[in-house]
Amino acid sequence: MTIDIKPIDPVSRAFFAGVVSGIDLTRRLTDAEVAAIHAGMDRYGVLVFHNQQLSDDQQLAFSRQLGPLEQATGDIAAPQDRRMSMDLNDISNLDKHGEVLPRDDRRRLFGLGNQLWHSDSSFKDVPAKYSLLSARKIPPTGGNTEFADMRAAYDALDEATKREVHDLICAHSQVFSRGILGFDDFTEAERLKWVPVRQRLVRRHPGSGRLSLYLASHAGGIEGWPVPEARAFLRDLTEHATQRQFVYAHVWKPWDLVMWDNRATMHRARRYDPKEVRDMRRTTLTNEVSSLEQAP
Ligand code: OGA
Ligand code: MN
Repeated sequence: MTIDIKPIDPVSRAFFAGVVSGIDLTRRLTDAEVAAIHAGMDRYGVLVFHNQQLSDDQQLAFSRQLGPLEQATGDIAAPQDRRMSMDLNDISNLDKHGEVLPRDDRRRLFGLGNQLWHSDSSFKDVPAKYSLLSARKIPPTGGNTEFADMRAAYDALDEATKREVHDLICAHSQVFSRGILGFDDFTEAERLKWVPVRQRLVRRHPGSGRLSLYLASHAGGIEGWPVPEARAFLRDLTEHATQRQFVYAHVWKPWDLVMWDNRATMHRARRYDPKEVRDMRRTTLTNEVSSLEQAP
């Protein structure tokens, strides 16, 4: 088997979202395969692998071959309610007995924040590098995941806006993103855990050298700016960055694994019937440094 990576849509998005064939992620990868995946991520920002029947342990082993993992400290499940270890993010609508969460369950309502455009863990001082999402069970309709190319979005800004955003620092917190949806059911401990952190609005991607807009619905302010002006501007930039020409919409099949680079993309989940099972598991590589250390 030889690994091969091709653009999913060579006509309209030749440099965003690739599909990978000729690789079995359940096995230990060769150094050449690891290098090809990193190179593919540097080029495409999103990679799709079909038919990868991974156990949790195999997903973890594969992910660790690409770099150190971050811990799943971004959700609100109490330790005794978790379905999986802290190395895995539970991106499902299930409780630990495998039952679909009630419509008004706090964990479900918090999880709806994934339907807002975001970059994973931008609310942590050291945010995420790659996310690897494995689809175990998907609803019959809906539940796509959309990805936006934040390098292309940056490139398409006019020169005055590029100058304006160049050195701006944003404040990111899950309290901001959930607040957009009217969710403010946080404990005192959660509010303390998610005090705003600082991230650059423009960062340079070390692998490709390209600049990108580092936006997320977690961003609730810009240093030195009045809050309403900052939020209006961030909303405008997000609207710009998520125009359809910058977006790839992934329609899931069971056992797809999709990997994205949080330094160069945003993503969001799309709605699905809350009575249907959607079981996805995410491993996440840490960026190891803050975006503050990735100045243009
Ligand atoms: C995630 C996420 C989107 C989805 O796993 O980080 O935002 O479609 N998922 O479930
Ligand atoms: Mn996410």
